[in-house]
Amino acid sequence: MLKPNKLVNSNFLSCLDVSVEEVLNILNLAQNFKNKTLNIKFKDKVLGLIFDKSSTRTRVSFQVAMSRLGGTTIDLNPNTSQIGRGEPIKDTARVLSRYCDALAIRTFKQSDLEEYANWSSKPVINALTDLEHPCQALADFMTIKEEFIDFTKVVLTFVGDGNNVANSLILCGALLDVEVRIACPKGYEPNPLILKKANEIYVNKNLLKVTNDPYSAVSGANVLYTDVWSSMGEESLQDKKDNDFSGFTINSDLVSKADKDAIILHCLPAYRSKEITDEVIDSKSSRIFEQAENRMHVQQALLSCLLS
Ligand code: CP
Ligand code: NVA
Repeated sequence: MLKPNKLVNSNFLSCLDVSVEEVLNILNLAQNFKNKTLNIKFKDKVLGLIFDKSSTRTRVSFQVAMSRLGGTTIDLNPNTSQIGRGEPIKDTARVLSRYCDALAIRTFKQSDLEEYANWSSKPVINALTDLEHPCQALADFMTIKEEFIDFTKVVLTFVGDGNNVANSLILCGALLDVEVRIACPKGYEPNPLILKKANEIYVNKNLLKVTNDPYSAVSGANVLYTDVWSSMGEESLQDKKDNDFSGFTINSDLVSKADKDAIILHCLPAYRSKEITDEVIDSKSSRIFEQAENRMHVQQALLSCLLS
């Protein structure tokens, strides 16, 4: 019978924290939660949410996922808690993990997230850092798996900034041995350590490609994915990045170079008409809102594994 397998690592800070078997178990559980064929409860368990950056999808999908599991969440707004005053992470983590059964944290530095995990006695989940967005990658691969029966044959092309979303896609793609092509302007390539790690993980080598040419990257691809050009915290760079990313918009012309049955993904929120046009986001090929829904199902699955 399908059941949540306890993760070997107690935290989910990075896609590097899980094995391929664990990812497949999470995706399988998520599909069963979505189809309502699985009913797992963690009555009275509490998930603390610490968000140093804005969020709609991640915050609400964690709240609903926890509620569906029979537990609750506490929204620990840094501005109304002592976190905003600068209480040391090691003190906050030790206290909150005595109250809560897990913590989902959205912050800037991956090292701050790691500091929380080092001092927390309960599981810590990465709800987005500047380096990674691993919960997003799980939802992305769930969406891809729903669409393509043998999803390991899929070519996934990410057009845009080599940022947190791209980094987690690369690592999850490496775990699942899926071909991932990244097309970004010069100077916006993904983190070199992430690329190195991914290349070590891939069973089939040469499945990870980074190029500065979006047209060659999308040729024959089954999935086209993009994210904002300027991430949260990069507001002052917006004019420069808008200029540097000219030619990297996913529009109908670029989509026409992909496989005819290609689907379109975006983690959202989007800057419509910058990284993606209205006609593509709202097209029949778009699975962007299914992808957003799947955030909730994979997080319900992830929480089941972490709380088991
Ligand atoms: N995709 C995503 O993480 O969205 P939010 O910033 O709204 O949580
Ligand atoms: N790269 C974006 C993702 C938002 C979900 C950011 O970090 O702002």
